[in-house]
Amino acid sequence: MQKIAVVGAGTMGHGIAQIAAMAGYDTVLFDSNAEAVERGADKIAANLDKGVARGKVTEETRASALAHLTTATDLGAAAAGADLVVEAIPEKLEWKQALFKSLEEHAPTHCIFATNTSSLSVAGIASVLADPSRVIGTHFFNPVHIMALLEVIVTEQTRDDVLANIRDFGQRTGKEVIVVKDFPGFATSRLGVCLGMEAIRMVEQGVASPEDIDKAMVLGYRHPVGPLKLTDMVGLDVRMHIGEYLAKELGNSAFEPPALMREMVEAGKLGKKSGQGFYSW
Ligand SMILES: NC(=O)c1ccc[n+]([C@@H]2O[C@H](COP(=O)([O-])OP(=O)(O)OC[C@H]3O[C@@H](n4cnc5c(N)ncnc54)[C@H](O)[C@@H]3O)[C@@H](O)[C@H]2O)c1
Repeated sequence: MQKIAVVGAGTMGHGIAQIAAMAGYDTVLFDSNAEAVERGADKIAANLDKGVARGKVTEETRASALAHLTTATDLGAAAAGADLVVEAIPEKLEWKQALFKSLEEHAPTHCIFATNTSSLSVAGIASVLADPSRVIGTHFFNPVHIMALLEVIVTEQTRDDVLANIRDFGQRTGKEVIVVKDFPGFATSRLGVCLGMEAIRMVEQGVASPEDIDKAMVLGYRHPVGPLKLTDMVGLDVRMHIGEYLAKELGNSAFEPPALMREMVEAGKLGKKSGQGFYSW
């Protein structure tokens, strides 16, 4: 693979474009919103500058990454000649399906279609395409240029050569690849959300303070951050919706959002982004 198009230049898309360009791929960052593309490109430049200032990125890598990066606001131009498209648009099934449908017209037939969805069924996204075997999930973590994990999701139809190419892409971009079946919550969200919901139930039952519950996992299990602080960072509303979805899809009440969580969301205590959650930010 040599040319990679990243669609959606937001939180995740600009990061994915950055690591692809740093790995030497000819990378195009596309967004339907021209300002978003510009913001994304500015963030990449700022990240690279910071990396150089901190001694984590060499001057050569910075210059080479910028030379390998272009931007586009025309989907046809972005997808022309692409070997891989990575989609990072909002978490809406119909939007992702519509995007890949139009990419089917613009991208070469050999081009791999990857989605950065954090919860949707990858097979569901692929179901509208003439060739669903070219679709795979590439679940990156935020911030993309720092987080080491790439959770790859394969459907029953994903071709072996598509997976092999994505493994290679993960390796070249410096990520540790795990391969997971297209099951609700994949590996990361399923375990992470389960822990978060149980921690909230423990607060509800007065087992311990949020600080002490988090300390239990940080010091006792070496988690870098406790489940309640992490819930604050992700957003209580976002996690609540994932919990509802997983409880339904997996038929497991462990994912059911506790009453305390629903009350906090209703009261606007969404965590870091609102200034108040289990912690004051
Ligand atoms: N934010 C995270 O921490 C995180 C982590 C893992 C996975 N994800 C997943 O990554 C995806 C993107 O999330 P994000 O947080 O980067 O979103 P975001 O809102 O920051 O960015 C989305 C971008 O997509 C653009 N966009 C919308 N519709 C488009 C279209 N049809 N064509 C082209 N561009 C379009 C928007 O203009 C916006 O710039 C979602 O599926 C999300 O679930 C997010």
